Amino acid sequence: MHKQTAAIRLQTGQSNEMEHSTPLYLTSSFTFDSAEDMRAAFAEENDYNIYSRYSNPTVDEFVHKMCVLEGAEAGFATASGMAAVFNSIFALLQAGDHLICSSSVFGSTYALATKFLPKYGIACTLVKANQPEEWEAAVQPNTKMVYLETPTNPQLEIIDLEWAGAFCKKHGLIMNVDNCFASPILQNPIAYGADIVSHSATKWIDGQGRVLGGVIVGKAELIREIYLFCRNTGPTMSAFNAWVLTKSLETLDVRMERHCANALALATALESHEKIAWVKYPHLPSHPEYAIAIKQMAKGGGIVCFELKGGLESGRKFLDALQLLSMTPNLGDTRSIASHPASTTHSKLTEAERLGVGITPGLIRISVGLEHVQDILADIQQALAAC
Ligand SMILES: Cc1ncc(COP(=O)(O)O)c(C=O)c1O
Repeated sequence: MHKQTAAIRLQTGQSNEMEHSTPLYLTSSFTFDSAEDMRAAFAEENDYNIYSRYSNPTVDEFVHKMCVLEGAEAGFATASGMAAVFNSIFALLQAGDHLICSSSVFGSTYALATKFLPKYGIACTLVKANQPEEWEAAVQPNTKMVYLETPTNPQLEIIDLEWAGAFCKKHGLIMNVDNCFASPILQNPIAYGADIVSHSATKWIDGQGRVLGGVIVGKAELIREIYLFCRNTGPTMSAFNAWVLTKSLETLDVRMERHCANALALATALESHEKIAWVKYPHLPSHPEYAIAIKQMAKGGGIVCFELKGGLESGRKFLDALQLLSMTPNLGDTRSIASHPASTTHSKLTEAERLGVGITPGLIRISVGLEHVQDILADIQQALAAC
């Protein structure tokens, strides 16, 4: 079965009501016919649902589809993308272990790696996304995992997954990839050797800015450890959110096609604009890692970045002048969204720290929606004229 079909047709077994659309199992717990059935469920001798913190049919449907889309053996869904990132690291590492983490990662992941993991005795070395010699030099006897994101948020740097897979294999390290920006439609890190893949389902997977969610998929033995940790600590996805997200997966493929087509058209049109210093989009030949992006991403994704020649002040003016695009921190929505990291998400860093993680003063990130591309372009052009 093709992935597009699986995302539509994999469904929780039909109930006696003969519903066509998958039902929502909004229940905290499940009942048993006998004490023996209940004992056997707790002993894991059968696969009955017990309690929705452990498993729920609606959540299972979402996870099952995500496993098929990513080519994974097993998975677990969480309440948010950060819960997925956190648990994919924390459930597998312990005090005394060492993590190698790309320095170009989502802000909360950066905080997790640099501020919180060390509190629990897990050391972390940050390495530059595209400097293999830094990764090699970072390996220590207690290194257990490599964590990376590609394309990175918001700089759109591309890490060669084939190279990273070979690096992890050579050193016997768990390869943990946040595949949020590409979505499972455009890129599958497991094909390159990733052991664990996480997603913020809040983004392209939901696609309409409605619910938070996350998911971790990967090798069965690692997911088992993550499951046992999560079952006891409680970051589980709600059945309602899983129902919204499993419905969303039915349209993810067609939505990504339009997001990518709009983004490529926009990036191409903006490249020659007089107020823009550079445009970055993975499938634009001018992207520094274009050759890698073409190799590992089926399309360039829905995010376009550009640098305003006027810097910080221009960035703020640009946002204020927008009429159609939304000013909001989310991404991956039907509605196009603009953000200015230097004055918002990364404003607490010093300028040197910002530059260190690739946040330049005039950097604008556009999450390209599903509106007509000419309307998106016209709004950006009039805002450029005003800044
Ligand atoms: C790449 C990436 N990973 C993880 C997250 C965290 O996801 P959530 O907001 O669902 O917790 C985000 C959020 O923007 C993200 O962009």
